Formats: sequence, structure tokens, C-alpha cells
Amino acid sequence: MWVEVALGTALAILLYLSFQKPRGLPPGRLGLPLIGYLPLNGKSIEEQVKVLHQQYGDICLWRMGTQVVVFINNYQLTKEVFSSKSFTNRPNWDMLTLEEKVPLGVFASNGHVWHTNRRFTLRQLRDQGMGKSRLVAGIHVQARKLVQALKEQANQSAPLPQALRVGITNVIWHMIAGKTFEIGDEKLKEFEHTINQLNEATFWLGIPDFFPWLKYLPKFLQNKLFLLDRNDLLKEKLFVFFEETIQEHKASLDPNNPRDLMDAYLLDIEQTRDDPDSIRTKKDLVFLLLDLFFAGSETTTNTLMHLFYYLAMHPNIQKKLQAEIDEMLPKGTLPTLDDRPSMPYMDAVIHEILRITSLVPLGVMHCANEDTQLSGYTIPKGTIITSAFSHIHFDARHWEQAEKFMPERWLDEDGKFNGKRDGFVPFGIGRRSCVGETLARMELFIFSTAVFQSFTVAPPPGTAIDLAHDPTTPFFHNAKHQNVYVTVR
Ligand code: HEM
Repeated sequence: MWVEVALGTALAILLYLSFQKPRGLPPGRLGLPLIGYLPLNGKSIEEQVKVLHQQYGDICLWRMGTQVVVFINNYQLTKEVFSSKSFTNRPNWDMLTLEEKVPLGVFASNGHVWHTNRRFTLRQLRDQGMGKSRLVAGIHVQARKLVQALKEQANQSAPLPQALRVGITNVIWHMIAGKTFEIGDEKLKEFEHTINQLNEATFWLGIPDFFPWLKYLPKFLQNKLFLLDRNDLLKEKLFVFFEETIQEHKASLDPNNPRDLMDAYLLDIEQTRDDPDSIRTKKDLVFLLLDLFFAGSETTTNTLMHLFYYLAMHPNIQKKLQAEIDEMLPKGTLPTLDDRPSMPYMDAVIHEILRITSLVPLGVMHCANEDTQLSGYTIPKGTIITSAFSHIHFDARHWEQAEKFMPERWLDEDGKFNGKRDGFVPFGIGRRSCVGETLARMELFIFSTAVFQSFTVAPPPGTAIDLAHDPTTPFFHNAKHQNVYVTVR
């Protein structure tokens, strides 16, 4: 009898405690123990977060499954969080690490692996020309191919050509591996297909990240439900894709003349062979390649697609941009980095696109490395934390008529470009901000100038272009694939 009473009391206390909000946490929705807050109203995650902020303020939480996620909706606080060492880590989620016990590469890794790879990547990208004039010629080659492909589809309704995606991919792949792909390359197509499949598979892989108790299910059932085998298979396919190029590089490696990022990494492997602290392995190299390949192509391609669509739907802005290009550059001459200061309207258009489309609307999740005080709250170690970038980009504290596409907001009274604005975080901010920002900016500038110098982009006659983002990718505001109508100028 007493045993039953004791057990019943313990259960009641446990239940009571699991419904309580741990002391010191920001306000928000905890929902039910083990399940968290599951809003079943059909709204997107981004819309749900907006509602939470309206209800609870700039810092609030949402327990998703067992994971407490803190969402920030304030520029200054975002700066504080992402500049702090305490919030540098990524969550140890299978959907990010692809089930590696020690996450590799740069995007999902932490600690020594992350630090070493981030420093290495930044140095290598700069050595390969990021932010420097010598990369410009290579970007010109790809931009010219896009111009050629657009010429071939002039006066027809057609989707933006493959030359856009392949061109952007080629810029980063050349920096990594000294190679480029031809448009229509079968291997690249298969690789992109595998990446897309892996993206879909990581959605299922991510379910136990939020409901870790599902990991107690029998392995065969987990396999079926969360596509574990499929994930392994796709990972293997990606490894095979990189393996051939790694072997080619190994065979022709000259220690005195590293040609690209891959050579530099292989040399590092050689040089640190006897160092017990070295993180250099072929597997880590493959993860790094995957990170750069994916982050370096999808993001910039989608931003350019948005830019072309927005200008197609805003012909007056397009005309103004074309007038600036015509004034600054002789027809057929592509811009160099030196032309940028004299093309303020182009800079303004690019910044306004980055703001209004907010490619990564809810940032990329970080995680508290230790118990940390933030804005009067206690954020316990292991809490997930991120910032609603897309809300900050529409925050009335920073932006007037935020819903309006208005490049002029980036210009001062003298028409000079002013990019130093609070409330603008398309590339993140702080210790983990985008390593490819400078490269992306170079590509956006050169590709956009090349296109509007030679063409007018419009919606197909009698139709409109849908500027809304693709709802099937909730963590990325990808552009929808649709037709445009270009005419040669
Ligand atoms: C318009 C284009 C791009 C946008 C909007 C963008 C945006 C972002 C954002 C929001 C993050 C997350 C920051 C954080 O975790 O707080 C990020 C990280 C990252 N980006 Fe980009 N990115 C772009 C282009 C590129 C390019 C061209 C590269 C490749 C060279 C690249 C490589 C990376 C990598 C490796 C990280 C992870 C950094 C880390 O975890 O330390 N990105 N990017």
C-alpha cells in the first residue's frame, strides 16, 4: 500500500515538474512533455514564430518535441547572441551532422574541428581570389555563358537557363578543385539530384532529433520511418562523386604549388600526419567539400533568381538600373570590382533583394555551449537558439514601408550607397557568419550587371511572376521555378 502511494506521489511530482517551465527561461510555449508545443493550425513555422513574438516579445521559446528553441526577434540581441562564444556551437542533430558521431566539415562541426576548418576555409577562399580582382575573370567567363544562354531563349517564355546554376556552381568548384562543369554535364546533374534527395531524407532523419525517445524503437522500424539506410546510401553516393577528383589531385599534387583548396587540404593531411591533434582526414575533406559546394551554389543561385524576378515585376527599377550600367560601362564590357563604387544603384538593388527575400528566414540554428545569461533570462546549456532574420528584415524599428521593394532606401540624399544599416543580417552575423559572403557579393554584382546590360527581363506576356518563395522549403526562401521573357537590348 505504502509503495503504491510513494510511486503515485513520485509520478504526480514528475508530471507536475515536466509541465512547469524551468525557472529563468524566456516566455513562450512549452506544450506537453516529450511532445512539446505542436500547433495544428496549418501555418508555416515562420508564421508561428511571428505569432509567438507578437505574444511574448523579442525573445521567446518554443519547445519542439523535447528541444527547447529560443527565437530572437531583435537586431541588437541577435548581434549579442551570435557574437558570444557561449552560442557558437551547432546542435548535435543527425539532420545536420548526417549521423557522424563527431561532426565534420565547417557547417555542422563544433570546437576544434570547426575552428580549424573555418580558418582554413576563409584563408583558402581568399587565396583563391575571394574579394580580389584575380577571381573576376573567372566569374566573367561564367556570366558570359549565362548571357549566351539567355540570348538563345530571347523572345520566348522560358525558365531561367541552367547556365545560371551551373555558372555559380563552377565559380566555387573551380576554387575548390580547379575544374568547371559543362552545362548539361551528366555527373553534375546526378550529383545535384543526390543532394536534393539527401535534403528530403534529412527531413525524416531530423524527426528523432526533436523526439529522441523515438531512438528506443527497434532499429528496423527506425530504418523504415526515418530512412536511415537511404541516408547512408546517399551519403556514400556523394563520397564517390568527390573521390575521383580527390584521387586525381593526389596523383598530381605538387607540394610547392598548391593549385586549389583541395590541394591545400591534401598537403595539410601530409604535413600533420604525426600530429595527434590534427583533424585532417579524407572524410573531413569530403564533408568540407560538401558544405562549400552546397552553401556556395544554392544560396547565390536562388538570390539571383529572386533578383531577376523582382526586376521583371518592377520595370521602372530595372530601367533605372540599366541606365546606370549603360552610363558606367561600355556595351559588352563586364564590370570589375573597381566599378562597384560608381554603381550605387546596383548595390542598392542587391541589398534590397537580400533584405526583402531573406533567403535564410530563421537563420541557422545555434546552441548554448554552457548556461548563459541573456537579457535577464537564463539559457541552459544545450538550448537551441536562433534569430528570425526575415522578421528583422521587416522590423519597423529599422525599415519604413518594409513590405515595399525600394532600392532607394539604401541611397543617401546625394545618391551615394549606404550599406551600413542596423537590422540587416542576410549572411548572419558574428562568429559563425557566412564564410562566403564576399564571394556571393562578387557573383551577385557581376552576374546581375551582365544580364541587365544585355537584356530586359519581363514576365511572359499577359502573365505575372510570382514573387512568393517556394513553400516546400520552409527553412530557405527559395525562388519558385517559373518562366521569364527576355528581350535583347
Ligand atoms: C546570397 C548568398 C548567401 C547567403 C544569403 C548565405 C547565408 C548564410 C547564413 C545565414 C549562414 C548562417 C550563419 C550562422 O550560422 O549564424 C551561412 C553560413 C555559411 N555559409 Fe553562406 N550564404 C551565402 C553564400 C555562401 C557562399 C557563396 C558560400 C561558399 C563559399 C557560403 C558558405 C557558408 C558556410 C560554409 C557557412 C557555415 C559557416 C559556419 O558554420 O561557420 N555561403 N551563410
